[in-house]
Amino acid sequence: MRVIYFSADQDGAAWIPGLQAALPGAQISLWERGARAADYAVVWKPPQQLFDEQTQLKALFNTGAGVDALLKLRLPDGVPVIRLDDAGMSVQMAEFVCHAVVRHFREFADYESDMEMGKWSFRKPRSRLDFPVGVLGLGVLGERVAKAVAQFDFPVNGWTRTSKALPGVQCFVGDAQLDDFLAASRIVVCLLPLTPETENLLNAQRLARIRPGGYVINVARGAHIVDADLLTCLDSGHLAGAALDVFRVEPLPKGHPFWQHPKITLTPHTSARTLRSESIAQIVGKIAAIERGDAVAGTVDPNRGY
Ligand code: NAP
Ligand code: GLV
Repeated sequence: MRVIYFSADQDGAAWIPGLQAALPGAQISLWERGARAADYAVVWKPPQQLFDEQTQLKALFNTGAGVDALLKLRLPDGVPVIRLDDAGMSVQMAEFVCHAVVRHFREFADYESDMEMGKWSFRKPRSRLDFPVGVLGLGVLGERVAKAVAQFDFPVNGWTRTSKALPGVQCFVGDAQLDDFLAASRIVVCLLPLTPETENLLNAQRLARIRPGGYVINVARGAHIVDADLLTCLDSGHLAGAALDVFRVEPLPKGHPFWQHPKITLTPHTSARTLRSESIAQIVGKIAAIERGDAVAGTVDPNRGY
C-alpha cells in the first residue's frame, strides 16, 4: 500500500514517521510532483496538481474537520473524501468556547483592565438566564460545545439543517427557524461547515436578530460572517462584542479593522488544533476499515458540502 502526505501548513516531516509507525507495511512519502500512484492521500489544502496526477486513490483523508478548501478543487470522481471526526478537537473546542462565553459573561476583560490600573471594584452580578447561548451547528464539535456550555447552567439553543434532539438544548431546524433561533440567543457561537448555504450567513439582517447586547463567537470559518456588517453592529452598540478565531483571509491582514477594535477579541485560528497522533490513529483505523470494505464515519457528502 502507498500513502502520500501533503500539507500546506504543517510540517510534513513530522507526520511521515508517525504514519509509517502506524502502517509498518506501507510505503509512506511526502507528495511531490510526479510521485508514483498512491492508494491513499492524507492532505491539508493540497494543490490541484496532486489530484490531476493521482488517479488511483481509494480515499482521500483531510487532516482537519472542515473540507471547504478541499471541495473547491476538482476532485477525482467517486473517491471518498474523509474528514477528521473529532480526533481530539471537540474537547479543545468546548474549552475554547466555554472560556469565551464565561470571559464575556463574567466581564473578566474589564476586571483585568481594572486590576492593571490598580482599581479594586466590583461589577453587579448578571443572571445567566439573560445570556442564552445559541450554537449554530450541532455536529461533532457543536454538540460537545452545547453540552459543555449547558453545564454552566446557561440556557442553550442549537440550530441544524436536519432535525435533532439534544437533552438540555432547545433545537431549531432549517432556514425557517433561523430567525427564531437568533432572537432566542444572546451569545451566538458559529460551528457550521462553510458551504454555499452557510457562507455570509451572519449578515446585517441576521446579526440584527440576535438579542440586543449580543456577543458573537466565530470558531468555524471567517466567511460565515460579513465583516463590515459585524463592525456596524458592534459600533452601533447592538452587539457588545465578538471573539473571532477565524477570518476570510488568514493570517488576518495587517490593517484590517478587526485588529484594533476594542470590542473584538482575536485568536489565530487555534480554537481546535489538529492533533497529530490522534489524527494518525483515526486515519489508520479508517484505512483498515476501507480495506475490509466497511463504511467509515466522517465521509463527506459532496452534494451537501460537509
Ligand atoms: P459536522 O459534524 O459536519 O457538523 C456540522 C453541523 O452544521 C451539523 O449539525 C449540520 O446540521 C449543521 N449544518 C450544516 N449546514 C447547515 C445549514 N445549511 N443549516 C443549518 N445547519 C447546518 O462538523 P464539525 O466537525 O462539528 O465541524 C464544524 C466546522 O468547524 C468545520 O466544518 C470547520 O469549518 C470548523 N472547525 C474550525 C476549527 C478551528 O480551529 N477554528 C477546528 C475544527 C473545525 P445536521 O446535523 O442537520 O447535518
Ligand atoms: C480547522 O479549522 C479544521 O477544519 O479542522
